Amino acid sequence: MTDVRTDGQRKRVFIRTYGCQMNVYDSDRMADVLRPLGYAMTDTPEQADLVVLNTCHIREHASEKVYSELGRLRDAKRERRAEGRDLTIAVAGCVAQAEGEEIVRRQPAVDIVVGPQAYHRLPELLAEAERKAAIRRAGKRLPGAGVLDTDFPAESKFDHLPAPQGVRAGSAFLSIQEGCDKFCTFCVVPYTRGAEYSRPAAAVLSEAHQLVAAGAIEITLLGQNVNAYHGEAADGSTWSLARLIRALAGIDGVARIRYTTSHPRDMDDDLIAAHGTVPQLMPYLHLPVQSGSDRILEAMNRRHGRDLFLGLVDRLRSARADLALSSDFIVGFPGESDADFDDTMRLVDQVGFASAFSFKYSRRPGTPGSAMPDQVPEAVKSARLAALQALLGRQAREFNISKVGATVPVLFAETGRKPGQIVGKTPWLQSVYAEGNPRLIGHIVEARLIEGHANSLAGEIVARAYEAAA
Ligand code: 5AD
Ligand code: SF4
Repeated sequence: MTDVRTDGQRKRVFIRTYGCQMNVYDSDRMADVLRPLGYAMTDTPEQADLVVLNTCHIREHASEKVYSELGRLRDAKRERRAEGRDLTIAVAGCVAQAEGEEIVRRQPAVDIVVGPQAYHRLPELLAEAERKAAIRRAGKRLPGAGVLDTDFPAESKFDHLPAPQGVRAGSAFLSIQEGCDKFCTFCVVPYTRGAEYSRPAAAVLSEAHQLVAAGAIEITLLGQNVNAYHGEAADGSTWSLARLIRALAGIDGVARIRYTTSHPRDMDDDLIAAHGTVPQLMPYLHLPVQSGSDRILEAMNRRHGRDLFLGLVDRLRSARADLALSSDFIVGFPGESDADFDDTMRLVDQVGFASAFSFKYSRRPGTPGSAMPDQVPEAVKSARLAALQALLGRQAREFNISKVGATVPVLFAETGRKPGQIVGKTPWLQSVYAEGNPRLIGHIVEARLIEGHANSLAGEIVARAYEAAA
């Protein structure tokens, strides 16, 4: 079959993103790196010359999904070769970092394995993969397949990446911090993403200006421990996240600022105060607590107890009464008893979350938790997760219903499932769908909330919003 190309000789890349928002950001940045090499983005692997899997390693089924996807790609590669063409397969992200060579051993069809700190080197890696492919095409055998780069290079990838293009409907991610030094005993991040690193404040501000020039009105600051941010400033001082947020709020055109993910230990007074004083900082905070039991928090090495978390919630709500809180929970950490789990349920009851993510503990090789005694049986984990999710689900629904009747600014992001519908986000990160002209996408418009559900709200665009956005 001949491949009909409407874009001349351009090559195409398909990037599949697993996991968190950091990976969404990284995928955009990989696209930025590949664009000058002539790679256009495509939505399907079938059309691609290069497929990049940007992987997540946080829970075990995440990496298993990657291996089964790689099996399918190997088959596709074989078919291509039979037609005299090729398919380059790259594995990026945290599985790449954690498993390295093991990936090419398990799936020799993989051409490139690249860790999250080495994306700026993709052009060299592709060139080397191409050289190897040419040698193989000439019928010569090569020792060891695949080109690997899972170093933590001394230079920051951020100094080598081209200007960002990743603005979607007015929203952009901006990575300001990477890595983690906290070593929670369940978590692979300190091993896959390396030590905590903060980008200099000037680099962040310059990227923010670029994003605004490219159409961003909402910026979400990203980091594995984003509120541990301590970026060097031009005058030699160190900027905290709060200081950075205030500077970003001063950029003309920035209407909304968000940040994720935070650690309770790094919620300092200044940052709490910023929630009350910076109007652009949205009234929504994702603050993972993981457990409500002091004993389990200790075993998790979270470095705080339930009282510190509850105290933060009080102070945050004093700063910003309508703050919507979100969190992450793990059930079934080794040693978790019924009483420990009850502590978690009581904490959830006490706080009232607007949304939350909850997971069964999953044993990650190399982390201290995986070697702990008293692993919790799967059935117990499942029962606890179901109970917790039922409670969190009720709270999310109640939160959504509590906003019914209000007229709120919604940043519309895309068309909805039903014809004529558009979907966007409230300041509290709730999804709102409403009948509306697609030209409102990328704009903040007023909508009256008319119906609240578990995961979304129905809204009605206020007529005068049309004139404002036109
Ligand atoms: N098992 C289950 N959940 C985990 N998380 C991280 N590691 C594990 C694990 N081993 C969850 C935590 C974290 C979120 C991103 O993923 O809740 O906050
Ligand atoms: Fe993982 Fe804990 Fe670091 Fe978060 S703070 S990335 S859960 S080690």
